[in-house]
Amino acid sequence: PPALFGNRKNSQGINMNIQNQWNDLASAYQPFLERQWQAAPVISGQRLAGTPSDVRCPYDLNKVVGQAQFASAEQARQAVDRLAAYWPTWNATPVEARAAVLERLGDLLEQHRAELMALCTVEAGKSLQDGIDEVREAVDFCRYYAQQARQKLGREELKGPTGERNELFHEGRGVFVCVSPWNFPLAIYLGQITAALVAGNTVLAKPAEQTSLIAARALELMFEAGLPKEAIAFLPGDGATLGGLFCRDPRVVGVCFTGSTDTARIINRQLAEKEGPIATLIAETGGQNAMIVDSTALPEQVIKDAVGSAFTSAGQRCSALRVLYVQRDIADRVIELLKGAMAELNVGPTHLRENDIGPVIDQEAREGLLAHIQQLKSEGRLIAEATLPAGLNGHFVAPVAFEIDGINQLKKEQFGPVLHVVRYDAADLEKVVAAINGTGYGLTLGVHSRNEETAERIEQLARVGNLYVNRNQIGAVVGVQPFGGCGLSGTGPKAGGPSYVLRFANERTTSTNT
Ligand code: SER
Repeated sequence: PPALFGNRKNSQGINMNIQNQWNDLASAYQPFLERQWQAAPVISGQRLAGTPSDVRCPYDLNKVVGQAQFASAEQARQAVDRLAAYWPTWNATPVEARAAVLERLGDLLEQHRAELMALCTVEAGKSLQDGIDEVREAVDFCRYYAQQARQKLGREELKGPTGERNELFHEGRGVFVCVSPWNFPLAIYLGQITAALVAGNTVLAKPAEQTSLIAARALELMFEAGLPKEAIAFLPGDGATLGGLFCRDPRVVGVCFTGSTDTARIINRQLAEKEGPIATLIAETGGQNAMIVDSTALPEQVIKDAVGSAFTSAGQRCSALRVLYVQRDIADRVIELLKGAMAELNVGPTHLRENDIGPVIDQEAREGLLAHIQQLKSEGRLIAEATLPAGLNGHFVAPVAFEIDGINQLKKEQFGPVLHVVRYDAADLEKVVAAINGTGYGLTLGVHSRNEETAERIEQLARVGNLYVNRNQIGAVVGVQPFGGCGLSGTGPKAGGPSYVLRFANERTTSTNT
């Protein structure tokens, strides 16, 4: 069978990349699996009491990982007061000093890699490979945004008439709210915060309610890296309750949000209606991501990339493949290979090396996916379903593939390990792209074709942020594949791209008659 997830498996079915790193990681990683973690609101470096709830491990519901205390409305108000008061000081701190904090944070994340990976596993159910990639991406964001800030936030002299000096420069906007998702509880959480901070904003950080513990640990590392305590407030809690408060606060100048399209719309509405400055929204939302495979593609390569794109992280990536369009001439062959590859997937508790697919995040996510799966099963178009081992006690959903007639049959994004396959005729290629565009989403699109003209034509027609040709369509690398889409998928700018930090800043000019 093809090497799934881009790595060969050894004779015990263990992904070789994990196997090769395991000797270094194992002794450092394992003790953290048993640790108890805490998260609580933190304002100006002071830890406050909140409403407590136990955090359970998504792959073992008997396992309590720690306790998260959720913030109150009063704490939200107090947090904005403090952040607004400190903003002029942080804004006046030289860019170099702000960038240096990010670089120290990157180093600390690397030093604490095993611990952070363990938190990704026990709190978010991530696989070991996902944990490795998550810490890597968080480190990359810190270093990349530090470098971008140094390059882009300085003063630039613009040419004007003789006797006049014109300068362009940037500064922070004020209090920025960062609302981050549970699917990248370290990387996206820190990516948003570091970009906002380095641009000169003070930050109100609201992590996803499912992943407060890892966010709290990363906050400690931010302070250890030298971030002034007053520059950030940490408010774990329920998004609907707290989000409404921040997004209506007149002192908030912007929100950076990653999550669902529906929530982005609510935030946008609240920001539009609130008093105070016209606030910016930077939103990265969902996708209905497709891959188009024509008859010149290499079926084995297609399967490796499609299975990896659909099922890595249990399909819980906004980049993940949802709809595989295969040209009718090779569809039977591709579907046969897909069945074989899905039989190779190891699903189970993700602190074990042999498991490459873990649970979905919570019961609500699982129930939503199971309802969709049940519906498609009742229509009788199942292609394959991976096997779940017996005795699991977590939010597991077996990876599954169905045949459907077209992407427009899907009413919403299914954020989990469900792949839909559509056969198309060569003459309908442009209609296929039109149907994909017709969803209104525009995040990732994969193309497998050895005909360059086909890929070029699709590039012209498709309205997506990230197009991937003859490879998988997940795992965008910071500074290499700046990530983010358009339409229902987000407002831009792209995370890990050259415009990101600038969008958190105010652009100013000063013209002096010399
Ligand atoms: N940036 C991630 C990826 O490319 C998705 O959020 O997979």
